[in-house]
Amino acid sequence: MKTIVQKMDRNNLKPEEFALAASLLKEGQLVAFPTETVYGLGGDALDEMAAKRIYAAKGRPSDNPLIVHIADASDIEKLAVDIPKTAYALAGRFWPGPLTMILKKSDIVPYSTTGGLDTVAIRMPSDEIARELIRTSGLYIAAPSANSSGRPSTTKAEHVKEDLDGKIAMILDGGAVTIGLESTIVDLTGEVPMILRPGYITKEMLEEAIGTTEYDKAVVNKEKNVTIVAKAPGMKYKHYAPKGDLTIFEGEMSAVIAGISKAAKEKEESGAKVGILATEETKDKYTAGIVKSIGSRKDELSIASHLFDTLREFDTLGVSYIYSESFEEGTLGQAIMNRLLKAAGYQRVLV
Ligand code: TXA
Ligand code: MG
Repeated sequence: MKTIVQKMDRNNLKPEEFALAASLLKEGQLVAFPTETVYGLGGDALDEMAAKRIYAAKGRPSDNPLIVHIADASDIEKLAVDIPKTAYALAGRFWPGPLTMILKKSDIVPYSTTGGLDTVAIRMPSDEIARELIRTSGLYIAAPSANSSGRPSTTKAEHVKEDLDGKIAMILDGGAVTIGLESTIVDLTGEVPMILRPGYITKEMLEEAIGTTEYDKAVVNKEKNVTIVAKAPGMKYKHYAPKGDLTIFEGEMSAVIAGISKAAKEKEESGAKVGILATEETKDKYTAGIVKSIGSRKDELSIASHLFDTLREFDTLGVSYIYSESFEEGTLGQAIMNRLLKAAGYQRVLV
């Protein structure tokens, strides 16, 4: 299949530019498009064949459910049943935006979209290209992140092309996304709202809107996975993973810099290519390795938005080992570390 790439000018979007993408979606084909978080791989959420095509293109197991994207908040009433008041409160406060809610699904949502679950994930993105695509197609659009399963999520159309060229009908190229980490997911089907994936909308922000909210155990079980030495190869929990072997160094900054420099030097001496994931504040302090700054610690959105991009860059450079600083602090620290730890298969060195 030849993948059509259509460049879009965000400052001058015209409804007719969406006609081809919308008609492809209506035929059950797949169209990748930007959202404010990451690029999504879109298909008609109510069409079982489209869901199957999404799983096939990504190489994703079909029991991993998809998020349904809507352009009008009231559409949750078509897609979900037994909707709690908290859902309306969150929609009012954070939609359109980087928040996904898990609700009980209605009968129109096929199990192929929900991975066999009786619940459905729903999000109303704020990105204008995403919104216009949903509106023009008149569909609900199921869209996982537009990457091959297991690889870093895509924050630019070029990344989507790298992973999915020839496997999908079309890519809408709206340039780099603004947030760069996937949406916060909150499950509203239990007694207490539960955060399944941290993101730009934080626990504190949710609590301000709906009261007590908890993290799912899987989000905070980092301590259980402390690994002082590298886990055996093959044990790696593959998610967001670059090709190089990623290890996160944690501790006081000067010790982190010394530890990474030492590890990088040793690997280089054995002939390996090494990448270092650093920041504006530290990039000049390393004495070995290929150093990439992902942004300034004073601007955590710059760090979030460059994380996946930088991991992909190391792949392009063909590095075998990647050493990264850690990012615990700030509002987005939780979300950044969650992705980084998964990408590293929880491989950490505490210095
Ligand atoms: O920011 C985002 O959410 C991006 C953009 C494209 O909107 N989408 C995204 O989709 O990250 P994906 O498929 O890569 O991640 C969706 C996550 C998966 O971890 C999936 O297991 C979870 O949402 N999920 C989807 N439906 C669910 C459900 N009914 N119950 C629990 N988890 C669900
Ligand atoms: Mg994903």
